[in-house]
Amino acid sequence: MDKTHWEKIYQTKPATQVSWFQEHAELSLQFIHNTGAAKDGHIMDVGGGASTLVDDLLREGYVNLTVLDISVMALQAAQKRLGTAAGKVYWLEADITQIELPEASVDVWHDRAVFHFLTDPLDRQRYVHAVLRSVKPGGHVIVATFAEDGPLHCSGLDVMHYRPETLHDEFGSAFKLTNSAEEMHHTPSGADQHFIYCYCRR
Ligand SMILES: C[S@@+](CC[C@H](N)C(=O)[O-])C[C@H]1O[C@@H](n2cnc3c(N)ncnc32)[C@H](O)[C@@H]1O
Repeated sequence: MDKTHWEKIYQTKPATQVSWFQEHAELSLQFIHNTGAAKDGHIMDVGGGASTLVDDLLREGYVNLTVLDISVMALQAAQKRLGTAAGKVYWLEADITQIELPEASVDVWHDRAVFHFLTDPLDRQRYVHAVLRSVKPGGHVIVATFAEDGPLHCSGLDVMHYRPETLHDEFGSAFKLTNSAEEMHHTPSGADQHFIYCYCRR
């Protein structure tokens, strides 16, 4: 994974202008609510970038939030937007395919539009290893990727495409596919991007 690539993106574009920007991550919020996780449950937004998901979770009273991203510029954009509330969040600058997260420490793993950038099977294996290690048994895993008819590239990078079943296959039998959904994301420049969301239990 190319940290320089992502730093450059967040340096050159305001967070509200990147193609994946959502004013509110509504479907993600719905999935998180449906997990029934407690307000002090540990929610980790993996590759959260400058997403507004953390703002809405804080507003709803969740108190144990981590935003992990490879780009420090992205994290800084989110921190600046949040102001003093940023102090209530744990910010982690890391590559999810490289970091060794604490074991059984996460109640809800959330990833929108990160896993589909892993075109190397070894990186996908490392990612799944990170989920297996850090998500508590019985914990919740929400992953959103481009659908099979989603964009061929995103921000100049090749991407993978999934159906809920093929995405679940990547994670394997330690995870139970419990629910899935589709979303047509409208980018700030007016394009439509087809996403799928998968919800699995560890
Ligand atoms: C398409 S953006 C999605 C951001 C956010 N999840 C959202 O929905 O607004 C992909 C994000 O993943 C981050 N990223 C890419 N590869 C990563 C990796 N290996 N580890 C951690 N973050 C990564 C990028 O910096 C970027 O913020």
